[in-house]
Amino acid sequence: MKNLLLKTEGNITTLTINRPDKLNALDLETIKELDEAIASIEENDDTRCVIATGAGDKAFIAGADIEFMKNLNSIEAYEFSRKGHKILQAISDSKKVYIAAVNGYALGGGFEMALACDFIYASKNAKFGFPEVTLGIMPGFGGTQTLARITGKNIARQLIFTGSMIDADYAKSVGVVVDVKENKGELMELAQKTASKIANNGPIGIAMAKKAINNGFNLTPDEAYKYEGTLFGVLFATKDAKEGLSAFIEKRKPEFKNK
Ligand code: COA
Repeated sequence: MKNLLLKTEGNITTLTINRPDKLNALDLETIKELDEAIASIEENDDTRCVIATGAGDKAFIAGADIEFMKNLNSIEAYEFSRKGHKILQAISDSKKVYIAAVNGYALGGGFEMALACDFIYASKNAKFGFPEVTLGIMPGFGGTQTLARITGKNIARQLIFTGSMIDADYAKSVGVVVDVKENKGELMELAQKTASKIANNGPIGIAMAKKAINNGFNLTPDEAYKYEGTLFGVLFATKDAKEGLSAFIEKRKPEFKNK
């Protein structure tokens, strides 16, 4: 792959957007590679947790590639937007846990990619924002939807309408970021540590919990509880549930097999 690096160690895959000279901006080639990479990660039973990050010291992803977008007509722009949605939906629908490790700029499509992940860790120099309106356009990879669901509509409107950037501490204060670290080294260390913890837990239990959180969010409480109950019930047909429950009683470490 030209613009992505994929590295799998144990049960953790690190997915690095690698166009540092363009601040990892998402051009068509990178989007295509992301689509393929996410599909291949999904098929890989060894991977339980993915750390998404950007190459270099300046950016996670500085947005969709403006050079590429400049010449799009309406139909092409619609298709580009839908390609972005497909990728970000593949992350939120994935059985794997995606952690965004944001070092530097996460703008436009980069902020949207981070928001599609299960949660975001950031380094102190992270900057988040939707500069699209400063370019005469608007967020098109889901940002009008995902940000508002996390911060509420007021903060989403303020950020999207002004096009201004927020720093890591403010992003943490409004729930966008879960934790902030001093520099990229500490950020990646935290992401690895969390990923290892997640990778040691029952993968099917995690996949079902992710479904319950993401798909249950827009249901009524009654529907959502029934949905949760169904997924909870399904887990009891798995070997991993028997293993985890038995291991506790037998005072030993469980060995989850993803079965
Ligand atoms: N699309 C295409 N190229 C981009 C880009 C993007 N979204 N963001 C940065 N780049 C390119 C720059 O054009 C520059 O390329 P060049 O060296 O060939 O001229 C290179 O990345 C470095 O960026 P530069 O602007 O020189 O870095 P900076 O530190 O001065 O500024 C930003 C950093 C993020 C403030 C600035 O690059 C920026 O505003 N980028 C656009 C952000 C944006 O609007 N994203 C949403 C798009 S919908």
